[in-house]
Amino acid sequence: MGSLIDAAGALTGSAKLVVAMDGPSGTGKSSVSRMLATRLEASYLDTGAMYRVATLRVLRSGVDLDDAAAIAVAVKELPLTIGTDPSREVILLDGEDVSGEIRGNAVTQAVSAVSAVPEVREQLVALQRELSAAAGRIVVEGRDIGTTVLPAADVKIYLTASAEARAQRRNAQNIAEGRGDDFAGVLADVQRRDTLDSTRKVSPLRPAEDAELVDTSDLNRDEVIDELYRVVAARISAGGSQ
Ligand code: DC
Repeated sequence: MGSLIDAAGALTGSAKLVVAMDGPSGTGKSSVSRMLATRLEASYLDTGAMYRVATLRVLRSGVDLDDAAAIAVAVKELPLTIGTDPSREVILLDGEDVSGEIRGNAVTQAVSAVSAVPEVREQLVALQRELSAAAGRIVVEGRDIGTTVLPAADVKIYLTASAEARAQRRNAQNIAEGRGDDFAGVLADVQRRDTLDSTRKVSPLRPAEDAELVDTSDLNRDEVIDELYRVVAARISAGGSQ
């Protein structure tokens, strides 16, 4: 335990550490998880990107999104490559770089349906566990990391923010990227996805009992990172790891 943090309170070079970062979309989770990983000199795994790649595969295979059995077949043995270096995004489907396409509207609209299929989750959870074990020190970001994927994670954090704050961030991003200003539409989409993700039968979105809740509604990105680092250091000092 003590081996993870030195006398100055910094993380030591070789110590293993698994940080589970969960929460809904629009909390700034991806960017702060990546930055936290860099600060901890850890690997980083974006599990949402994995569900997005599976969804792209389903869309390309022309399968009906209401047909869970067909989705399971389309995603079987998914030829997915995902990098774990926080400074370099690598997301390949059958060798093709799909890192841009998986963020587009078509995938975003369909991903809840695909990620609700148990066979899809089983396959991706197995891969998430393999990649995490191989990395040793890693920040793993998603919805069910602390509850299902890595219940023995050293540190579990659940990022939250009000639906309005999350919609406001997404709308500002849309405006900045030339996709127009539609706060009401974005808010409705945030609420729709929250409901789908938190009511699905397999791995519904909820904080692990031993997760630390961090509300980002009124914090800027640097403040969030500082808070996350503080939580990690406190959990480690309190004996959350060995
Ligand atoms: O974090 P994101 O928006 O890229 O995630 C895309 C979708 O994948 C989102 O609708 C929830 C789902 N997801 C999931 O079900 N389990 C995870 N561990 C990560 C994401």
